[in-house]
Amino acid sequence: MSTTRILVIGGAGYVGSHFTLCASNAGLRVTVMDNLSKGHRGALRGAEFFQGDLLEFEPLQAHLSRNRYHGIFHFAANCLVGESVSDPAQYYLNNVIAAFNMLEAMRYTNHDRVIFSSSCAVYGIPETLPLKEDHPKNPVSPYGRTKLAVEWMLEDYCTAYGIRSASLRYFNAAGCEPDDGLGEDHRPETHLIPNVVRYALKLQDDLVIFGNDYPTPDGTCIRDYIHVTDLAEAHLKALEKLDSLPLLRLNLGTGRGFSNLDVVKAVGNACGVSLKPEIGPRRPGDPPELVADSGEAFRVLDWRPTRSDLKSICSEVLRWFSEHPEGYAE
Ligand SMILES: NC(=O)c1ccc[n+]([C@@H]2O[C@H](COP(=O)([O-])OP(=O)(O)OC[C@H]3O[C@@H](n4cnc5c(N)ncnc54)[C@H](O)[C@@H]3O)[C@@H](O)[C@H]2O)c1
Repeated sequence: MSTTRILVIGGAGYVGSHFTLCASNAGLRVTVMDNLSKGHRGALRGAEFFQGDLLEFEPLQAHLSRNRYHGIFHFAANCLVGESVSDPAQYYLNNVIAAFNMLEAMRYTNHDRVIFSSSCAVYGIPETLPLKEDHPKNPVSPYGRTKLAVEWMLEDYCTAYGIRSASLRYFNAAGCEPDDGLGEDHRPETHLIPNVVRYALKLQDDLVIFGNDYPTPDGTCIRDYIHVTDLAEAHLKALEKLDSLPLLRLNLGTGRGFSNLDVVKAVGNACGVSLKPEIGPRRPGDPPELVADSGEAFRVLDWRPTRSDLKSICSEVLRWFSEHPEGYAE
């Protein structure tokens, strides 16, 4: 029996590199394509690699003509919400036009399965919690709008051209695989856990929590943290599920929320120190609370998060930054 081949676009980034490790451990033959604009060569594990940019259509189409993949995993995007407000053009280009290129290249080369990294940002400010997939979609940032635009494109490509897809709406990806030398290294880093850990290790001078006057028990925002390897496993299940269901849109979260101050405390406990963050102003468009109802994903994918315990997530991230204080070398 031949080994299942998959293409991971954006596989040198945070979520994509953890997915690549998980897929190669599951016995799949993985090829990573990444333009290394944000990713790291040092994060590549168990995969063939070629440097390529989704915005360049011809080489992508040529690659897909020469190679046959059972599934294509799309992690490549610009992901900074604030930057998407000040410079939406690069978000529409790299998140929407690039995804369009991928779908066109797939269409012309008869590739028919794609798993797309979507986001809870498609919902905007929650009207009800926890968020279910049928909650109204009113994204408040260009970033969230680009994710929703790609979801719509995927729906239309499924109806018209038979391209099967799963849009997986992640809540807050967290954690890492320090045993395999994999961590979270965004530059700049806007995610809370790596920033708190870096502050605790004195790798950065400041730690700012954006707002403490939200209508939540301690006044800080509440988020749903899902381990990146739990996300990776859901992606493998989603690929299998496309055999029977051609269009999936699923929330991937734990259903449990932690406030920013809960996270600061959990990291402090992991390090054995008491951390005192600075309180800054609210960031525009930050909802007070984002927590997933992932019941649909649990049922459809027969999947459950097993690694998303906040305490162990904090310990892993602490370990990775202790061993890689400068992040990846390349
Ligand atoms: N990290 C989270 O908490 C989170 C939450 C919700 C959704 N997402 C989505 O998950 C995906 C992965 O997020 P991440 O945190 O791993 O981001 P990341 O920046 O670490 O990884 C993205 C990767 O894509 C590559 N890339 C970007 N544009 C490319 C292009 N045009 N051609 C080829 N490669 C390109 C980058 O070099 C990088 O390696 C993104 O689509 C993001 O929007 C992430």
